Amino acid sequence: MACANIFFENSTRTKFSFELALKRLGAHVLNFDSSSSSLSKGESLNDTLRTFEALGVEIAIIRHSDDNFIHSIKDKFKFRVINAGAGKYEHPSQSLLDLFTIQQEFGRLKDLTVSICGDIANSRVAKSNIAALSLLGAKVLLSGPQELLPDSKDLPKNCATTTLDQALPACDVAMFLRVQHERHQAFELPLTNYNETFGLNKKRVALLNPKSIIMHPGPVNRDVEIEAALVEHPSSRIFKQMENGVYTRMAILDWIMESE
Ligand code: CP
Repeated sequence: MACANIFFENSTRTKFSFELALKRLGAHVLNFDSSSSSLSKGESLNDTLRTFEALGVEIAIIRHSDDNFIHSIKDKFKFRVINAGAGKYEHPSQSLLDLFTIQQEFGRLKDLTVSICGDIANSRVAKSNIAALSLLGAKVLLSGPQELLPDSKDLPKNCATTTLDQALPACDVAMFLRVQHERHQAFELPLTNYNETFGLNKKRVALLNPKSIIMHPGPVNRDVEIEAALVEHPSSRIFKQMENGVYTRMAILDWIMESE
């Protein structure tokens, strides 16, 4: 089966774990690199996707910076589409691998408390995880800079905003998110003192329950959202998440390849 990784935004984890997952399932993989593609000669996005359709691609794994682009091409092409990251709106395969990592650790998701701290407003990982965790019966506590937190009225029932120092002793999972400067238009968040106020550091790690785990979808900005020495703390599952990304994406692909 011919499959294409079509990323219009940068990626390391998602792109290469999908590539590895496809290869392990015996698929042919076309890796599209937008910077060296014919987009630079003026070809449209639509014609680029039509080209992959004409080449016989059956599954297209797409990432795009526009929140709605992936939904907007639904049913327009013969290939099936996997969402590999839609703007600041959705990152479903990351959420599934996060859920798998948590389930592997605790044997359940229901009644766990997950703290998510950082640039929630611009994070597609946060949006997908808030939706999935709430649906599966986990409690979600959000913290971070006030300008980057969603409005409380937009949150589901089991999700609330709080301070990081209140969330950490109460949580089973402490998930940190990168500050997405590339998505900030109206203001620029200063990073001086960010770790002290909103990040994990040696002082704050002591607030965690010894059985809780530390997660981050990556890429990590060491010493910003997590102090460098804590990225590989015994409670950290950050690299486990990456490993689980391959298995999770194999499962997603297998399910799609088997379905009509
Ligand atoms: N977590 C994540 O989506 O990482 P990449 O941007 O490297 O794919």
